[in-house]
Parts: sequence; C-alpha cells; structure tokens
Amino acid sequence: MEISSCRLKGRFSLLMIMIIFFMMCGSTRSQLTVDFYKTSCPNVLKIVRREVMIAIKNEMRMAASLLRLHFHDCFVNGCDGSVLLDGSDGEKFALPNINSLRGLEVVDRIKAALENSCPGVVSCADLLTIAARDSVLLSGGPSWKVLLGRRDGLVANKTGADQGLPSPFESLDDIINKFVAVGLNITDVVALSGAHTIGLARCALFNNRLFNFSGTGSPDPTMESSMVSDLQALCPLTDDGNKTTVLDRNSTDLFDNHYYKNLLNQKGLLGSDQILFSGDEAQTTATKDLVQAYSSNTTHFFADFVKAMIKMGNISPITGSAGQIRNNCRILNSS
Ligand code: HEM
Ligand SMILES: *[C@@H]1O[C@H](CO)[C@@H](O)[C@H](O)[C@H]1NC(C)=O
Ligand SMILES: *[C@@H]1O[C@H](CO)[C@@H](O)[C@H](O)[C@H]1NC(C)=O
Ligand SMILES: *[C@@H]1O[C@H](CO)[C@@H](O)[C@H](O)[C@H]1NC(C)=O
Ligand SMILES: *[C@@H]1O[C@H](CO)[C@@H](O)[C@H](O)[C@H]1NC(C)=O
Ligand SMILES: *[C@@H]1O[C@H](CO)[C@@H](O)[C@H](O)[C@H]1NC(C)=O
Ligand SMILES: *[C@@H]1O[C@H](CO)[C@@H](O)[C@H](O)[C@H]1NC(C)=O
Repeated sequence: MEISSCRLKGRFSLLMIMIIFFMMCGSTRSQLTVDFYKTSCPNVLKIVRREVMIAIKNEMRMAASLLRLHFHDCFVNGCDGSVLLDGSDGEKFALPNINSLRGLEVVDRIKAALENSCPGVVSCADLLTIAARDSVLLSGGPSWKVLLGRRDGLVANKTGADQGLPSPFESLDDIINKFVAVGLNITDVVALSGAHTIGLARCALFNNRLFNFSGTGSPDPTMESSMVSDLQALCPLTDDGNKTTVLDRNSTDLFDNHYYKNLLNQKGLLGSDQILFSGDEAQTTATKDLVQAYSSNTTHFFADFVKAMIKMGNISPITGSAGQIRNNCRILNSS
C-alpha cells in the first residue's frame, strides 16, 4: 500500500513538474505568429502600409531608411524596438547610427496611427518589422507574411550597437562572425546585403577606398576606375564626409538584383559590398558564388532575401508577458 501510493505520488509530482516545465517553455520560447493581432488590432497591416506609402511618396529614400532601422534593431538585443529609445546612452548615439539612422519621425507617425486605432496593442518592434517588409515591397521587391508578437525591450544597448553592428571597413570574416553571433549564416550575409539595392551612403563610409587605400597610395583596385573618378569628385578629402551617393548606381530606388550585377562590375560602393565578390579570404568562394547566383537569378535572390529577413526578424524576440508595449516608441511607459 505504502509503496504504491508513494509511486503514485512520485508519478503525480513528475507530471506536475512536466506541466510546469512546458508552461514555462511556452512563455519564454519565441512564438511569433502571422495572426497575432487578429482580434486585438485587425487592421494593423493596413495601418502600417498606409503610413509607409505616404512616407515613401514624400521621399522614396524612406523605404531604405525604414528597412535599415529593422536591421539595426534586430542585431542589438534582438528585435525589441531598442534602437528607437531616446536618451544620451541610446543606440542612436552608437557609431553606426549617429548622424546616419533615419526614419524615426516616420516611426512616430506610424505609431500614432496604430495607437489611434488600437491603443497599447502593437509593439514598436513589430511596427519596424512590418514597415521593413512594406518598404521592400513598395520598392519593387518581394513580399512575405510577417511573423508578429514581439514585445518592446526595456533597455537600449549602445555598446551592443557599437560592437554588434557590422562596419563597412571590416574584413569579410569579421562581418560573417557578427551575423553568426545572432544566428545568421553566410547565405544570409550575402542575401541581406542585397538591401543595398536601395538607399544612400555618406562619403565617410567609403572614401577610404578613393585616394590612398590601405596606405597603397592608390584607390582600391577593386573599384571600377570611372566610378573612382566620379566619387573622388564627390568626396574630396577636404570635405566633411557628409555628402551622400546612391548604394546602387544602376537602379537607385528599385529593389532588384542590380546590387549583385554591380559587384560583378566592381561597382559596389562600400568596401563591405565589394568584398563579397572581390575579397581573398577563406569564405570568399562561398560569397562570390552567391553573388553570381543572385546576379543572374532574381527569383533566387528574392527567395533567399525573404528567408533571411524572416530569420533576422526572429532574433531573440521578447514574448509572453516580458517587456512591454510602448505607447511612444522613444520612451518607456511610466509604470
Ligand atoms: C553586411 C553588413 C552591412 C554593412 C557593413 C552595412 C553598412 C552600411 C552603411 C555604412 C550604410 C551607409 C550609412 C550612412 O551613410 O550613414 C548603410 C546603408 C544602408 N544599409 Fe547597410 N550594411 C550592412 C548590412 C545591411 C543589412 C543586413 C541591411 C538590411 C537588411 C542593410 C540596409 C541598409 C540600407 C537600406 C541602407 C540605406 C539607408 C538609407 O538610405 O537611409 N544593410 N549600410
Ligand atoms: C549589450 O550587448 C552586449 C553584446 O554586445 C551584451 O553582452 C550585453 O549583455 C548587453 N547589455 C544589455 C544591458 O542588454
Ligand atoms: C543558411 O541557413 C539556411 C537556413 O536558414 C540554409 O538554407 C542555408 O543553406 C544556410 N547557408 C549556409 C552557407 O550554411
Ligand atoms: C598613403 O598612406 C600611407 C600610410 O597611411 C602613407 O605613408 C603614404 O604617404 C600615403 N600616400 C599618399 C600618396 O598619400
Ligand atoms: C556631419 O553632419 C552632422 C550633422 O548632420 C554633424 O554633426 C557632423 O559633425 C558632420 N560630420 C563631420 C565629419 O563633420
Ligand atoms: C543598368 O544595367 C543594365 C543592364 O544590366 C543596363 O542596360 C542599364 O543601362 C544600366 N543602367 C544604368 C543607369 O546604369
Ligand atoms: C532561379 O532560382 C529559382 C529559385 O531558387 C530556381 O527555382 C530556378 O530554377 C532558377 N532559374 C534558373 C534559370 O536558374
């Protein structure tokens, strides 16, 4: 009798432990879904699309700026809206972002429209995910179903932004490692770099290639010579490096695979772009093959880009009851 009741209790508590275990898993594991706001904010996609359309109509470059915001959000503490937080120790002041991030006022407008329809429901992190997808689509790129249900983080991480975001002056190996650190791989590096088919960059981010590349006394030999002359004229060494030029010289505002065609012609703008095709590191064979494949097959590029965007959007989301839904993307809710 005693033995069997003990066994029963043993089994019972084991069952309880298992139930509690699965409940805890449920609340911490990432569980983004396509219909997360189905009842709480059924028009969320329409509202964001409308605001992104208005913003892009006003300035086409805004598509690029919004896409980049999602990337810079996800690479730092996961996709948690942390990039949007104001404050002197905010990510906005990290080197890759300062005087560079754009679109924050557009985010404010999208958030205001969402708060107007569904107050306190849609996170700033999800807003960025949807706006990035819409920006790609409205620029002529592919579309996909966005996974939703992210919540907003409670801290910004300036150091994380300085250390985790790739720089255009880094080696291919270092760039790949930064992607691997957040669960992405070489295919994702090459596919996501294709985002540079839209948008602009400042001279300061590529003028190291124009005059005295790596102390050689000459421009970067992997930049086509007429492009070197053009850019030398745009970005004289005496300048402050704030002038801008297009990342994709062929089809500036169109989301297409010309970024990769440019690389084949040594017309990549950033060192980190051209290195995918013209580098001489161990990983170059792999990235070069992908550049070639994407340059000749838009379907292939779009398919891999979409896969990589979804992967990037899944980097450490906050779900369940952790974090919060910010009312204003720039500041934490007062508790
Ligand atoms: C592979 C590593 C990457 C490096 C080193 C890099 C670096 C840069 C730099 C230096 C700029 C110009 C910033 C300025 O002028 O202030 C830029 C712009 C941009 N980046 Fe990247 N990036 C990378 C990957 C990505 C990814 C993964 C995405 C998105 C999926 C992205 C989207 C963009 C867009 C759209 C712009 C133009 C923004 C605008 O015009 O406002 N980049 N990037
Ligand atoms: C900031 O990011 C770094 C990784 O770059 C991480 O080690 C650190 O824990 C983060 N800090 C906070 C407060 O999240
Ligand atoms: C990268 O990951 C994707 C799956 O997310 C996979 O299809 C692809 O083959 C991987 N690429 C490499 C080079 O491992
Ligand atoms: C290029 O840079 C190197 C090292 O930074 C320097 O020694 C050299 O004098 C420079 N050459 C020219 C032509 O400016
Ligand atoms: C570029 O412009 C910003 C203001 O937009 C300014 O703060 C910064 O100092 C300028 N950069 C340089 C190198 O002068
Ligand atoms: C863009 O590339 C295509 C071929 O790939 C070429 O026909 C066209 O002239 C290029 N356009 C510009 C503006 O360079
Ligand atoms: C282009 O890529 C797609 C998707 O990867 C593939 O199904 C198709 O066969 C490729 N087309 C060519 C002409 O290689």
